[in-house]
Amino acid sequence: MDSKFCRVFFTLSALTFSITFSHQQDEQKILLVSFDGFRWDYIYRVPTPHFDYIMEYGVHVKKVTNVFVTTTYPNHYTLVTGLYPESHGIIANDMYDSTLNETFSLEDMKIYDSEFWEDAIPIWITNQIAGHNTGAMMWPGTDVKIHEEFPTYYMPYNESVSFEDRVAKVIEWFKLKKPINLALLYWEDPDEMGHNLGPDNPLMDPVISDIDSKLGYLIKELMKEKLWNTVNLIITSDHGMTQCSGEKIIELDQYVNPNDYFLIDHSPVRAILPKKGKFDMIYAALNNAHPNLTVYKKEDIPERFHYKHHHRIQPILIMADKGWTIIQNRSSTFMLGNHGYDNEFSDMHPLFLAHGPAFKKNISKDSMNSTDLYPLLCHILDIPPMPHNGSLANVEELLSEIVPIEIPHSRTTPQNDVNLSIYKVQSYAYFMGVFLGSVIVIVFLLVFLKHLTHSQMPTIQERNAEIAQPLLWS
Ligand SMILES: *[C@@H]1O[C@H](CO)[C@@H](O)[C@H](O)[C@H]1NC(C)=O
Ligand SMILES: *[C@@H]1O[C@H](CO)[C@@H](O)[C@H](O)[C@H]1NC(C)=O
Ligand SMILES: *[C@@H]1O[C@H](CO)[C@@H](O)[C@H](O)[C@H]1NC(C)=O
Ligand SMILES: *[C@@H]1O[C@H](CO)[C@@H](O)[C@H](O)[C@H]1NC(C)=O
Ligand SMILES: *[C@@H]1O[C@H](CO)[C@@H](O)[C@H](O)[C@H]1NC(C)=O
Ligand SMILES: *[C@@H]1O[C@H](CO)[C@@H](O)[C@H](O)[C@H]1NC(C)=O
Ligand SMILES: *[C@@H]1O[C@H](CO)[C@@H](O)[C@H](O)[C@H]1NC(C)=O
Ligand SMILES: *[C@@H]1O[C@H](CO)[C@@H](O)[C@H](O)[C@H]1NC(C)=O
Ligand SMILES: [Zn+2]
Repeated sequence: MDSKFCRVFFTLSALTFSITFSHQQDEQKILLVSFDGFRWDYIYRVPTPHFDYIMEYGVHVKKVTNVFVTTTYPNHYTLVTGLYPESHGIIANDMYDSTLNETFSLEDMKIYDSEFWEDAIPIWITNQIAGHNTGAMMWPGTDVKIHEEFPTYYMPYNESVSFEDRVAKVIEWFKLKKPINLALLYWEDPDEMGHNLGPDNPLMDPVISDIDSKLGYLIKELMKEKLWNTVNLIITSDHGMTQCSGEKIIELDQYVNPNDYFLIDHSPVRAILPKKGKFDMIYAALNNAHPNLTVYKKEDIPERFHYKHHHRIQPILIMADKGWTIIQNRSSTFMLGNHGYDNEFSDMHPLFLAHGPAFKKNISKDSMNSTDLYPLLCHILDIPPMPHNGSLANVEELLSEIVPIEIPHSRTTPQNDVNLSIYKVQSYAYFMGVFLGSVIVIVFLLVFLKHLTHSQMPTIQERNAEIAQPLLWS
């Protein structure tokens, strides 16, 4: 009878304890997924039951303004740093750094030179400095040594690894003895097919359906592994895609001699490095060359692009109108779908959905900036953000109220003020929890002590006293 009483007591104490403290002590976990080139409106064109499911039980932001240039590497690095490309240094998929006399090129995966990445400290490093573990599955930059560090667990980039294998590894990392609290998962489609087919092509429909199935697979696996209710799943992308055509071609060789400059970058926004003494001639020849080509001197690039203050941005930037392609000559290749254009074009915008304990349910928000994701991630993980260009205040309405909160880390980013009033509600609930928990524990203790005085079992009394103590003073 005594041992039964003890079991009941232990169980109830443990329950009270865990209910009272679970929200405070459970580490929040995040799985950030990028489906490369998933345009914001793809979910409206074919049935996407799994995306719908996340929206209904989570949050949805309809318009995400990503960063210029709207290409893969600059935007993926912005998502994990909160910085504009001019500040994080990955200003394009293809770059030339005159200080280093080095090129960076996605085409032949010449991306492993650490110095290109080290203007910023990405979130996995900050997370690890804070004592946590990160798992990175082929997210751009995560297999590069940055500031002498790699993610705690990562896989070197390998396009051939299936989505299922990537998911399996990420789940394994969440379940390790030293588990991760942050996972970054990258998948190449629908970008690849979007380039090849063009987004207007009806053949894109099955491609989008396939991504929805992949998301369904991910949800199913998380449920199977009992991670679905504890992991905050964020589904986003780096950019959208727009339709191009063979009629909308700007051929540079018609206007300038290819021997007079270096052409850097492959997006519809191209960087031009004139050879010595050729700047004025090149600028004059390109400016007004074609009605669908905008030509900027570096210092005249519009402020709204936040794309000016970096030495890797070349002296002349040329930008095609939506759907137009800039090539060197008629034998150069062009694609039926492309991105990289002005980040004001809605076709360039990615999607954003999230589900999990940190997020509200069944709500949508009209707009956000992709730079705001970084402070949101740091806030959920409770790690101090590095200086950044986003704002937590712009996205905190997405958060449920159970996210553990201390005073936000204004130390590093005093410009991003956070309205603390919602947390007052939360801490009131917290103290009520502690109070009620304590009352229950005290009542049980009294009953128990009364019981003990009858049964005279000092050893049990000692043990229970140890366990009960922290409850009473907490
Ligand atoms: C830059 O590197 C190339 C080889 O990659 C070399 O030919 C060239 O001389 C270097 N330029 C400068 C200014 O060091
Ligand atoms: C890439 O992944 C595929 C499929 O898992 C594997 O067969 C191949 O050996 C990997 N390549 C490298 C370089 O690791
Ligand atoms: C291309 O230029 C023409 C002439 O200025 C203009 O009418 C058209 O709208 C431009 N196309 C785009 C996509 O901006
Ligand atoms: C055409 O442009 C490509 C680069 O896109 C270049 O490699 C090729 O030499 C050029 N061809 C001619 C005939 O200029
Ligand atoms: C989500 O909200 C819609 C109305 O906005 C409602 O019809 C639906 O039942 C809600 N779903 C859940 C799961 O609460
Ligand atoms: C995006 O950032 C700009 C510049 O900081 C700001 O003016 C705008 O309000 C932000 N948009 C949203 C939706 O928060
Ligand atoms: C973006 O943030 C960085 C780091 O705080 C800062 O140096 C830079 O001036 C910011 N850019 C803008 C446009 O505010
Ligand atoms: C903070 O938010 C509350 C309600 O959400 C509002 O009443 C209060 O004025 C806000 N305070 C500041 C400083 O913005
Ligand atoms: Zn991309």
